Amino acid sequence: MTEAKRILIVDDEHSMCEMLAILLKKEGLEVGTAGSRAEAAERLRRGPVDLVLTDVQLPDGDGLEILRHVKSASPETAVVVMTAYGTTEMAVAARKLGAEAYILKPFDVDELRIVVRDALANRRLREEVVRLKREVGQAYGLDRVIGVSQVMESLFEMVRAIAPTSSTVLVTGESGTGKELVARAIHGLSGRAEGPFVGINCGALPDTLLESELFGHVKGAFTDARQGKKGLFEVASGGTLFLDEVGETSPPMQVKLLRALQERRIRPVGGTEEIEVDVRVISATNTPLESLVEQKRFREDLFYRLQVIPIRTPPLRERREDIPLLAQHFLERFAREMGKRVAKISEDAMRQLQSYDWPGNVRELENVIERAVAFETTEAVMPERLPESVRLPGRAEPLPAIGDGFSLDAYLLSVEARLLGEALDRSRGDRGVAARLLGVSPRSLRYLLQKHGAGAKN
Ligand SMILES: Nc1ncnc2c1ncn2[C@@H]1O[C@H](COP(=O)(O)OP(=O)(O)OP(=O)(O)O)[C@@H](O)[C@H]1O
Ligand SMILES: [Mg+2]
Repeated sequence: MTEAKRILIVDDEHSMCEMLAILLKKEGLEVGTAGSRAEAAERLRRGPVDLVLTDVQLPDGDGLEILRHVKSASPETAVVVMTAYGTTEMAVAARKLGAEAYILKPFDVDELRIVVRDALANRRLREEVVRLKREVGQAYGLDRVIGVSQVMESLFEMVRAIAPTSSTVLVTGESGTGKELVARAIHGLSGRAEGPFVGINCGALPDTLLESELFGHVKGAFTDARQGKKGLFEVASGGTLFLDEVGETSPPMQVKLLRALQERRIRPVGGTEEIEVDVRVISATNTPLESLVEQKRFREDLFYRLQVIPIRTPPLRERREDIPLLAQHFLERFAREMGKRVAKISEDAMRQLQSYDWPGNVRELENVIERAVAFETTEAVMPERLPESVRLPGRAEPLPAIGDGFSLDAYLLSVEARLLGEALDRSRGDRGVAARLLGVSPRSLRYLLQKHGAGAKN
């Protein structure tokens, strides 16, 4: 059972206090009474109260002052105001000062019961909201970003140092290295944490849509614009705007972004007025923007605007010591979610995980563990539950049977072909990545592709 709710009745009419006290005690509430403002203040000083039920006219002042006092000292306490003089102004004043409800004397006991019950329920909801907000805020602090390696420690230090400022941040890192996670942590640790975190993938939308998403549009701006719409720059006001895949924006969009960042003002599509915006911009990119600038695919001036503070999220293969911790973290999460008893990763499996290169970084590890937990029937993840791509590099392949009919050349060629296929699969056709996975130069890769008849494609 939860503790009884405490209620304080404030009324100078003794009989009224008595009557209300009897009524509300029957409701299971713990009741205290006060006959004046001073008495009420004294009682409130002694400890928290869940609800104050107060008359407006008191010998030493009015109930609205108590209301003001309660709301400033303890905003979570609910207040219900009772009065015999039912004017609209009084009701408005009470609500403005934060009263949950307002009840006219004389009242019906059932009506009072309902008003008190509702006020207490509202208060509980408010507490819940505060608690959840706090929890969500925590969820997006640095505690969600896992890592014990030196590179991650430096990253945490950097994030802690720059989070409280409003400086523009550019997060660069390979796919799946946690760029969005870091952006959210920066927001969560900043003075803007209570404000919104609004993200948009700049690479996923055609220009016209991206523009109206970012800057909004006025009614009638284009054929489908039956209503005006706020842009994300405005929606994120007071908070953080996360521009994901910013390297993929077109040159005309880059000009528009530059203007918005320089002037901190935006103009909705089809609009004539500019709107001032108060956002912190964090952007992210897989491809280093410097190289895009070099190739003239990204404006240099915008690059400098975005990269006031550069942050790099390191690939997983540069911090292998984080793999066990991350793997165990994901294991526990998925085991809980799927209601499975898998509790650890076997030593053999862990060795495989640590020697693999993880081109898809933490996201790939997360997926591998999810799959392993789903299929595992014992309490430890066994190497066989790992996908072949992860197992292959470290596994001691049984040697083929040699003898009549065996050809070393043919065998080596088949191994080469399999590894080549694997590298192309994993790099999703990106030859630079494929070459790196195989430890060969791009030139050798071209040669290998030709040799195995895969060179014809682009
Ligand atoms: N250090 C980390 N600790 C815990 N989880 C992580 C970490 N880094 C990444 N993750 C998880 O990996 C997944 C990918 O992370 P995130 O989306 O932040 O990557 P990203 O760099 O934005 O990738 P992309 O470039 O593909 O958008 C998420 O589920 C995230 O929670
Ligand atoms: Mg991302």
